[in-house]
Amino acid sequence: MEKLVIDGGLPLHGEVLVSGAKNAALPILCASLLTDGACTFRNVPRLRDVETMAALLRFMGAETDVTPPVVNVRGASVARPEAPYELVKQMRASVLVLGPLVARHGYAKVSLPGGCAIGARPIDQHLKGLEAMGATIKLDHGYVVAECKRLHGASIHLDMATVTGTENLMMAAALAKGRTQLIGAAREPEIEELARVLNKMGAKVDGAGTDVIHIEGVEVLHAVDHAIIPDRIEAGTFLLAVAATGGDVFVRDAIPEHMEPLLAKLRAAGAEVLREEGGIRVRSEGARSLKGGDIATAPHPGFPTDMQAQFMAVMTLARGTSVVTESVFENRYMHVPELSRMGADIEVHGRVAVVKGVAGLSGASVMATDLRASACLVIAGLTSTDRTEVLRVYHLDRGYESIEKKLRPLGARIERVRGGG
Ligand code: EPU
Repeated sequence: MEKLVIDGGLPLHGEVLVSGAKNAALPILCASLLTDGACTFRNVPRLRDVETMAALLRFMGAETDVTPPVVNVRGASVARPEAPYELVKQMRASVLVLGPLVARHGYAKVSLPGGCAIGARPIDQHLKGLEAMGATIKLDHGYVVAECKRLHGASIHLDMATVTGTENLMMAAALAKGRTQLIGAAREPEIEELARVLNKMGAKVDGAGTDVIHIEGVEVLHAVDHAIIPDRIEAGTFLLAVAATGGDVFVRDAIPEHMEPLLAKLRAAGAEVLREEGGIRVRSEGARSLKGGDIATAPHPGFPTDMQAQFMAVMTLARGTSVVTESVFENRYMHVPELSRMGADIEVHGRVAVVKGVAGLSGASVMATDLRASACLVIAGLTSTDRTEVLRVYHLDRGYESIEKKLRPLGARIERVRGGG
């Protein structure tokens, strides 16, 4: 096991480059299953989740060549359209192979992901949509088995704006016979990005980025060469880190249009956030110079649940009281007990956390059980003048490309060392 050792208390200065978006790369890698052609993806982040997805594609028989930022996949040789529990349990996004496999091979056997640290996270909407397109779905010893000769278009009303659900159904509908309408679709930038890739492959997807997506099914899709959009959550994490420590950093490749709710909250708190050519600049005098603010997470274009923990790290030090409401997942406050051990004043009442700004956080040995919670603890550690150890770095490595290597040139004292539970 590895841990991060942080000696915080220093402002951050300089420039940091944002990697490709994890949550765009994962569905896009699955889209390669929709064609026999050899696909090339660029700007793919070097992450554990990308490795897990590549392992899954390889398990099924696809030829994959993973040398981030370039990944090549050729789905022609898929012989085993199955996602085993051993891989799905490592990464829930494995469920994204379901739609492409049924659409292309008429069969898929995918392990149910089960609950995870941040909530129960069922996939009923994915299954409901595939059934509406003509698939028969059986549940067999913890596996979803979906079959269909050829999917047909359907009008599907989603009960909630599910991100991977929308992506799964969009990919399935791309090869279905006839027209599909996804009503109540998720609107995240990663969904628009997947639609761009599908359309480059020859699909007819219209309306991605709105809550109604139309897909006219086609007979075949062809290979694609595509560079993936920058990661808005990684970019936001750097903005929040600088807001917390103080300093002046240019976050290169951050796309302001993808991050409006966060930028608005940062400005309201008193940080200077500037759109500049090719990225976003943030200036701050440190979290104690900021004032508290309330957020309520919501599907895009609301405040992203994937930024809630990192935002809370800043609010633990901002002046006054902040109220955080987590509306997307029922259990996404695992960082709270850890922040409290660093001296934060946070009370959780169900989905609401009341955060009272304190004068400073003290270093501690902290552990998180999910990706964004780990990023929150790194930010907290960067503000504290004494030593913080963030254990179980593997959570962080799922979604951040060597975060310590990106933070060090900005002036942070952060090292990865072996050891720690
Ligand atoms: N939901 C259902 N039934 C479904 C699908 C979803 O009840 O069939 C519920 C979920 O339990 C949750 C809500 O709907 O309460 C929204 O979940 P969604 O399906 O949108 O989440 P997801 O697709 O599993 C993606 C991201 C997550 C991100 C969420 C919300 C990927 C690979 N993952 O998950 O990213 O938090 O959308 O924006 O795109 C992360 O990167 O750290 C991460 C967890």
